[in-house]
Amino acid sequence: MKLPIIFTLYNHSTLVNNIISSLSLDLGQIIFREFPDQETYLKFNTSIKDREIILIDSLDQPNDKILPLLFFARTAKDLGAKRVGLVAPYLSYMRQDKIFHPGESLTSRYFAQLLSYYFDWLITIEPHLHRYKSLQEIYSIPAVSLSVAEKIAHWIDNNITRPVIIGPDAESYAWISKIAKIIDAPYFTLNKTRHGDRQIEITLPEIKNYLNLTPVLVDDIISTGQTLITANENLMKQGMQPAVCVGVHGIFSENSYQTLLQSSMQKIITCNTIEHETNAIDVCDIIIEAINNID
Ligand code: R5P
Repeated sequence: MKLPIIFTLYNHSTLVNNIISSLSLDLGQIIFREFPDQETYLKFNTSIKDREIILIDSLDQPNDKILPLLFFARTAKDLGAKRVGLVAPYLSYMRQDKIFHPGESLTSRYFAQLLSYYFDWLITIEPHLHRYKSLQEIYSIPAVSLSVAEKIAHWIDNNITRPVIIGPDAESYAWISKIAKIIDAPYFTLNKTRHGDRQIEITLPEIKNYLNLTPVLVDDIISTGQTLITANENLMKQGMQPAVCVGVHGIFSENSYQTLLQSSMQKIITCNTIEHETNAIDVCDIIIEAINNID
């Protein structure tokens, strides 16, 4: 059987290069550009008839990326590709997973329907599964969700002395406890109330038994950074040392990375699902394993 061909429109990153070289696959050639009026031009320069196609692109900045990605998938099918799979190390539009106020758009479901229509399968890492139990609740294609709990646990174990693992909100309890149990570390979660995009209120449980440990705040997404900044400030007010912050997906919207660097955090690290200078945990091997397991 012929090997799949990998393409990327946006992720010319170390992660993608490593996946390509580890699997000994070819990087498909494509011309992808914008016309002056910002419409998309796409042209495949690699023959893809009867081939399996894997598109690797993280879906941060989704509104800019989604149309070209859908055009890519549709063109590949029209050119005779057997299947077109999407590896999205970061999967966007998972947070509006409930109609919180009457009249709101349930964008997680509509986005899932769009991707399911154009792609044949999906692999992603730690999607924001808070109110959905699995991707299959909203995706109608095979959708694999990979966990980085073990990787984060081992990074903490190798880099932090006497850690206490802290989740910023109640929803993170299952995930945080899983990470903590792998390395036999104590853990607790905070109570978070979101009053707006950048207005976060956080209250703490009783923490006096943890004051001599290193706080490690772990969150799935860092967007404005306000969750981590507010959590760290509140922990410090109660006598904890500055926290080490671990994010899976470092989106760092607008100037949030500068704001985070100027805050009193000890360190910020992320997984390389989105390329950024904070990347310290490599997810390449779990993506490769998942690609190898696609039927
Ligand atoms: C929310 O439920 C997520 O787990 C993150 O806590 C959230 O997306 C972080 O956003 P921000 O960095 O804007 O506070």
